[in-house]
Amino acid sequence: MDYSHLKQTDPENFKLLQAEIKRENETLNLIASENYPSPAVLEALGSVFNNKYSEGYPGKRYYAGNSVIDQMEELAKKRLLQIYVKSTLQKYWHANVQPLSGATANIAAYTGLLDKGDKILALDLSQGGHLTHGSRVNFSGIFWNFVYYGVDCKTELLDYDEIEKIALKEKPKMIVCGATAYSRTIDFERFSKIAEKVNALLLADIAHIAGLIAAGVHPSPIPFADVTTSTTQKTLRGPRGGFIICKRELADKIDKAVFPGLQGGPHMHSVFSKSVCFKEALDSSFKIYAKQIIKNAQTLAQTLKNEGLEIITGGTDNHLFLLNLKPLNLDGISAQNMLETAGITLNRNAIPYDTCSPFNPSGLRLGTPALTSRGMEEKEMKQVGTIIARILNNKKITESDKKEIKVLALKFPLPY
Ligand SMILES: Cc1ncc(COP(=O)(O)O)c(C=O)c1O
Repeated sequence: MDYSHLKQTDPENFKLLQAEIKRENETLNLIASENYPSPAVLEALGSVFNNKYSEGYPGKRYYAGNSVIDQMEELAKKRLLQIYVKSTLQKYWHANVQPLSGATANIAAYTGLLDKGDKILALDLSQGGHLTHGSRVNFSGIFWNFVYYGVDCKTELLDYDEIEKIALKEKPKMIVCGATAYSRTIDFERFSKIAEKVNALLLADIAHIAGLIAAGVHPSPIPFADVTTSTTQKTLRGPRGGFIICKRELADKIDKAVFPGLQGGPHMHSVFSKSVCFKEALDSSFKIYAKQIIKNAQTLAQTLKNEGLEIITGGTDNHLFLLNLKPLNLDGISAQNMLETAGITLNRNAIPYDTCSPFNPSGLRLGTPALTSRGMEEKEMKQVGTIIARILNNKKITESDKKEIKVLALKFPLPY
């Protein structure tokens, strides 16, 4: 990409940018929530749509000069519904493309559809849920009364009968399904049956699996969930941002919660960029990409298993999985740092029923969206898995490990 202006006007920051481009090119990124968007998505982020104040919604703005922005936002909404809702059903659904992030999308949904203090049932953070699913240190857990479900202690899977029991006992106003660190298919239909039984709203947070659902390689929460929230930067491979899709009858409440409830001027350069990413997700090539993400995650998990490492739930149906470090006598920080020094970036993560602290938990989370975007396939996943297992089993990094990682990374350069 052309950064000639930046180079001239701000050499200090240009140098930092060059350093980051080099880091991203020379390392292998297994962070499950990161990805490499296309140059078109990044170009859109740097566009003049950044310049405009557009408080409000198409046709109802508080500033002049929004005629083009209105068309652009409508196109983004249309594309988003095209991705997730069958054409004959689109009139029953509503899209909001303004949330600045996945966290904002969740808070907007709670704010718009519930009263402060209402009870919400969600997946426990320590068992794969997200901070905005009711962590006590997060806005969600401070303003709403969260109760939690977890995963089964033996199978490490969601136990829908148990979730139903908790729902019947707690009678929440809303049930949240969706996760940050769960490697198996989520049964949205079953969740909707549970929600229906207790007369709760169902929120599906598809932040992680939005791209897989877009491509039809993971079941969709629509039409089961009343409201679906997401990020756009993970498997969907867009800019950092969020969106909400809800039943049409909830549209007004959701729109008002996003603006003026939570946000000021929407980030229109980001909405523009989301729209570019939505078009990419509608292309048949995206299906091939999403299928490959899953094949890669399964190959990586299997390679690690073959090398004697323990994978939570024994494998994966999606783009990520958790590795249990306990049998290796390693803690999360040491393993994460060791791999980062070698040139592999990933994050430490709690495993179900972890006895260690969330700051230094007993697991690693590995995901394949980013490496798949670089063009890597099963052959490379076997190589990456073998290197990771060697480093973790030996608890040391050799110069040849570092070299092998760098050579592999540079074989699949980023398109920027
Ligand atoms: C399930 C889930 N929901 C919401 C979010 C929040 O997204 P953001 O970081 O864009 O605010 C995340 C981010 O990791 C997530 O995993």
